[in-house]
Amino acid sequence: MRGPHQRARRGAATVSVAALVAVATAGCAGRPAMPDVPDPALERVRTTALAGLDTLEGRLARLDSAAGRLAADAEGLAAAQAALIEARLAYKRVEYALETFAPTAARGLNGPPIPEVEEDEGDRPMREPEGLQVAEEHLWGDDPVADAEAVRREARIGASYVARARQVIEAMRLTPSHVLDAARTELAILMTLGLGGFDSPDPARNQRELAEGVRGVRALFSAYLGEVPATDADTAVLRRLDAAVTLHEAAARRPDAAMDRFALLVHGLRPAALAVARWAGGRGIAPSPDLSLWRGRAATPYEVDALDPAAFAPPTARADTAVVTLGRALFQDPRLSGDGTRSCASCHVPERAFTDGLAVALGLPGRGRAAGGRPARNTPTVINAALQPAQLHDSRLVYLEDQVTDVVHDAAEMRGSLEVAAARLAADAAMAGRFARAFGRAATGGASAEPTVTGERIRLAIAAYVRSLVALDAPFDRAVRGDTAALGADAREGFNVFMGKARCGSCHFPPTFSGAVPPRYVRGETEVLGVPDAWPRFRRVDADSGRARVAGNPLHLHGFRTPALRNVALTAPYMHNGAMRTLEEVVAFYDRGGGAGLGLAVPHQTLPADRLRLTSGESRALVAFLTALTDTAGTTARR
Ligand code: HEC
Ligand code: HEC
Repeated sequence: MRGPHQRARRGAATVSVAALVAVATAGCAGRPAMPDVPDPALERVRTTALAGLDTLEGRLARLDSAAGRLAADAEGLAAAQAALIEARLAYKRVEYALETFAPTAARGLNGPPIPEVEEDEGDRPMREPEGLQVAEEHLWGDDPVADAEAVRREARIGASYVARARQVIEAMRLTPSHVLDAARTELAILMTLGLGGFDSPDPARNQRELAEGVRGVRALFSAYLGEVPATDADTAVLRRLDAAVTLHEAAARRPDAAMDRFALLVHGLRPAALAVARWAGGRGIAPSPDLSLWRGRAATPYEVDALDPAAFAPPTARADTAVVTLGRALFQDPRLSGDGTRSCASCHVPERAFTDGLAVALGLPGRGRAAGGRPARNTPTVINAALQPAQLHDSRLVYLEDQVTDVVHDAAEMRGSLEVAAARLAADAAMAGRFARAFGRAATGGASAEPTVTGERIRLAIAAYVRSLVALDAPFDRAVRGDTAALGADAREGFNVFMGKARCGSCHFPPTFSGAVPPRYVRGETEVLGVPDAWPRFRRVDADSGRARVAGNPLHLHGFRTPALRNVALTAPYMHNGAMRTLEEVVAFYDRGGGAGLGLAVPHQTLPADRLRLTSGESRALVAFLTALTDTAGTTARR
């Protein structure tokens, strides 16, 4: 009756690292109604959202009772599964309101079906998975009848989240900005997570859910605009949304291999989002200010300058040109290392896209390959590092400033000290002059004046330089933005395989193709792949315990952050230990189902262990797509 039910990720642990404190909610919900005259257009929006919640509540109740009859007759399972599918569609229809106004409820209803560990508040206990995806696992699992009660429980918990969301939406003071927030948020979710099947891996159902998500946004606009659209921009929004619905519905009727997800993005979802942005611009409606990586002024996360390199910077961070150019000089200055032999650029070689070409970075003599008691690891590029909610293979640092201190003081990497470096640089009159120009001379005056060259200023300057190394204009980006000729047919097919059959897009989220979760990109994910000690001849899982060393949770054993795939064609070898030399080898590893698929003991692998069964053409297409993520413009020239 239905296609094979593929789960995105079957393992036990996904780790969320929230980089910023309390950024998760895009400043919206919850203010009590003011006594001013209600705007009828906004009241229609409220009514529409509440009606969507009513429908969802009704579908959850039906799921509850269908699960209750699971054991009764042969039709029971089919009926319960159908009820689940209907409940999910109702969820997608009102997702625009839930994700924007009641994000906790959205997560409770549609969170991933795997335990999560919250780390933003220290060592909090694991968050048990809940919601429709959990119910789905039961209904398509080994023994749905035995799990009937669990399904009913999820349906009821879901209903309580709907009730909470209803309270929030009834009480909030809606503004036109909320209409824009909800539309752009939902379209962004659909064109990043949705296209990759993140919450709905079955391709045909995924497409139906995408259509339903767009219909929700359509309903939002119909409500706000009323019966007759007043302007061309109004009409354009409605037409673009309708066109996107049509495309997804047509895709739902095609076999997976014939689904052109790239076309759905560039001809459906993105044009709809652009029309929404133009509409808002014409009416002078601005999005609510929020603290996400995705800038409010960008129509979609795929636009030029859509991502804000300062999003994860500490309040003290500097970005002015004089500081950045000083930082570039310091990045290449060996006086930062204890014995004066090494600079940042010794390992992050600009001409090699800021990597070193080695499997793992060379430790200083006498320290072997182990870095500061940590296992030696592959040197990542620093291009686009500013866009990551956390740094390093185990996500152990947030601020680039702290990364500078960490590596300068590290016994194996630079074995130096910022204070000693500052003293050395201060003795160099030209260098001291540059510091003075960048930061100003002693600020406080008098005898207690702060010196011109300080460890803190070294940190600020280097971090400012790294933050300036952002490049997001690869052939893929240009193609998404309309120059479709920029992407070859093979790379385009590769995007479709990446987001579809190979399920890469369920961990590597666009547009950086990292584990930072759209649409806000403030939480990063860590996953367990079971990367072996060597490739293709391997013996065991690589000994590096990864995130577990930092977070101390056994679920994190061998867990590493999902890295961005930008410039990956230039940064071989791959993985935290550099075990794989080529992208072809990486694809072969995934094709086998990761470490567990290879028969290695990987207790909590989050990558499904099933084979992908990629054809050789699909593997080649994947590599072509990854190669189309190359852009180092403006970053690699030495000065
Ligand atoms: C000995 C080689 C070496 C030197 C010298 C070095 N790095 Fe690194 N860098 C690495 C390695 C290896 C990692 C990954 C370490 C880990 O994950 O545990 C890394 C990680 C980073 C990251 C995080 C990138 C990411 O994607 O997570 C940044 C940023 C960075 N280095 C900047 C610098 C700066 C700035 C300097 C100079 C102050 C520097 N590095 C010096 C090898 C080096
Ligand atoms: C379950 C989540 C998950 C899925 C699915 C996934 N990846 Fe990854 N990917 C990761 C993680 C985590 C790493 C880092 C592993 C490490 O460093 O040991 C990674 C690393 C990589 C790297 C190496 C990057 C580097 O700089 O070393 C490439 C290339 C890559 N993935 C491509 C893909 C492709 C292509 C697919 C689909 C066939 C895919 N990934 C599917 C999580 C995932």
